Amino acid sequence: MKNIAVLLSGRGSNFKAIYNSIEAGYIVNARIKAVVSNKAEAPGLQFAKDRCLSSYFVNPSEFESRTAYDTEIIDILKSKGIDLVCLAGYMRLLSAKFVDTFKNRIMNIHPSLLPAFPGLNAQKQALEYGVKISGCTVHFVDKELDHGPIILQKAVEIKGNDTVKDVSERILIEEHKIYPEAVRLFVENRLTVNNRKVSIDYS
Ligand code: GRF
Repeated sequence: MKNIAVLLSGRGSNFKAIYNSIEAGYIVNARIKAVVSNKAEAPGLQFAKDRCLSSYFVNPSEFESRTAYDTEIIDILKSKGIDLVCLAGYMRLLSAKFVDTFKNRIMNIHPSLLPAFPGLNAQKQALEYGVKISGCTVHFVDKELDHGPIILQKAVEIKGNDTVKDVSERILIEEHKIYPEAVRLFVENRLTVNNRKVSIDYS
């Protein structure tokens, strides 16, 4: 059994996709043991509360430094025996301490084909750049933003008269497929990280 924590700041649709994948039996031998938010009003946190999951609002204004804040979360996650941390729209940078504590056990989803368009508003960046294809990426988290070893990617076409909303919606549909898939691969011990390369055992 693998224990999963989700860190989020907002809507939480990727969290819901992972949760629903466990509920539906697409991911087996895993459970969500903690949901942590830096925003008290995050709808994703409410979704967790409504399902009686252990949920935590950790208020950044109560901590002196990023490391102190992350130490609080690390303590929560350790007390829950967390194996995998899923960032799902978590809008805070992680400290080096957090990344070291859960090395190769933190995943993130980003709405572009990394390494293109890291950072905020990736869909808008892609549209304004004029790329014809964008997509989404699930990757392990390292100390650089939107940078760690890539687990899965899915391409999405950008059409001539697309708005940012159109592109974001089309990418989000794929996010909700590849994030649960990546979690499932992790839970089934099929991922091996070697420097930047993630190999997947499909046997
Ligand atoms: C998604 O677009 C994800 O790729 C990015 O933040 C957004 C979070 O959306 N990291 P949600 O909260 O999962 O609905």
